[in-house]
Amino acid sequence: MHRFHVRRGRLWCEEVPVARVAEELGTPLYLYSYRTILDHFRKLRGAFAPIHALVCFAVKANSNMAICRALARAGAGFDVVSGGELRKVLQAGADPKRIVYASVGKTAEEIERAVKAEILFFNVESAQELEQIQAVCRRLRRRQRVSLRLNPEVDPHTHSFITTGHRASKFGMDLATVKALLRRSGQFQNLLFVGLHIHIGSQILKAQPFQKAIRRALDLIGWAKGQGIQIRYLNIGGGLGIVYHREIPQTAAEYAGRILPLLKGTGLTVILEPGRFIVGNSGILVTRVLYLKESHGRRFAIVDAGMNDLIRPSLYGAYHEIQPVAQNGAARGGGRGARYDVVGPVCESGDFFAKNRRLPPLKAGDLLAIMGAGAYGFTMASNYNSRPRAAEALVNGGRWHVIRERERYQDLVRNERIPAFLK
Ligand code: LLP
Repeated sequence: MHRFHVRRGRLWCEEVPVARVAEELGTPLYLYSYRTILDHFRKLRGAFAPIHALVCFAVKANSNMAICRALARAGAGFDVVSGGELRKVLQAGADPKRIVYASVGKTAEEIERAVKAEILFFNVESAQELEQIQAVCRRLRRRQRVSLRLNPEVDPHTHSFITTGHRASKFGMDLATVKALLRRSGQFQNLLFVGLHIHIGSQILKAQPFQKAIRRALDLIGWAKGQGIQIRYLNIGGGLGIVYHREIPQTAAEYAGRILPLLKGTGLTVILEPGRFIVGNSGILVTRVLYLKESHGRRFAIVDAGMNDLIRPSLYGAYHEIQPVAQNGAARGGGRGARYDVVGPVCESGDFFAKNRRLPPLKAGDLLAIMGAGAYGFTMASNYNSRPRAAEALVNGGRWHVIRERERYQDLVRNERIPAFLK
């Protein structure tokens, strides 16, 4: 459920007309609903209340500091994957004891920062990384909790680019490697082996792949116990799917209903790392139609947002619903509309948001909302074609707030230098 709705032909975000924000801040514009974010977070946390669980928001889905602050205040932890994400969530007010840190390529410097911040644990993805964390901790004279990431070899039935738990994936370690490291755990004097981590992919609609992976993790935890190693945390990753088009994803309650029976009574603290589930449907990308044209029988709506603002359609062929922010007379009167390719200004054929999509009749100047853009939208944006990145705003009830200024041209050149020999 999200809080974008059409009232008398106009799109609203909570109690604010989307057009009003777009007129004031310009387009392209990311607009988020605060209450949707909190609702989703609370639904998931509530569903897992019967066991000891911690919901760590996957910051890669949306790293805006205001959104991280909102979630930190609501009691969320955070799943970070870089020194940059760590820095942002700490500045946003995250409790370090609720931060877990994944990534196959943590640098020594990133590790040091996280150890000093006293995060909950690292999700470790290789033996060499474990050696590196040990070396950093010895130098700093610290002890650090770690959690080993198991590749559970489960197919989550989702897009191949966002599948992570199959055999050929770069993520995690195979069972033999994890067992070998657990056997050697005594040699890592500065590390406490307290957790096991799995994450099988993203936009997963059914519980079955999660159940399969969790069973494998529980078997391994049982084996570790036999070796005298007490695993206290099971991190079951993120990956819960949402509705973009016609998907019928499991609800938080359905997911918990299938997973909890496996976890109850184990005494484990369960970590969840949802990103998309919390923010995906909480945000839209608002864009304005610049021009319409027809070419070789195709009708194009050229909008002012591009693949640099939202790359999911280009990169994954992802479907995002598109709806007019204000329905004009023809559409309200029941006009059938037409089929459009909705494309951006970037010089790439892959720069599109929809192809052959039926929409109400459009005209230049119309505002469109690209729905479901709250996760992996702005965080994957770039400056390609030297386009300043969009503004972001957050609606709470009847008020809206700028949470990221639109980039300006001077931001594009800020870090660039002309060397002396070219002056
Ligand atoms: N935990 C780990 C270790 C992850 O790698 C990810 C996502 C998550 C949690 C959060 O997954 P979520 O709950 O959001 O599905 N850019 C792609 C998605 C990439 C996901 C990467 N890892 C997209 O736009 O669909």
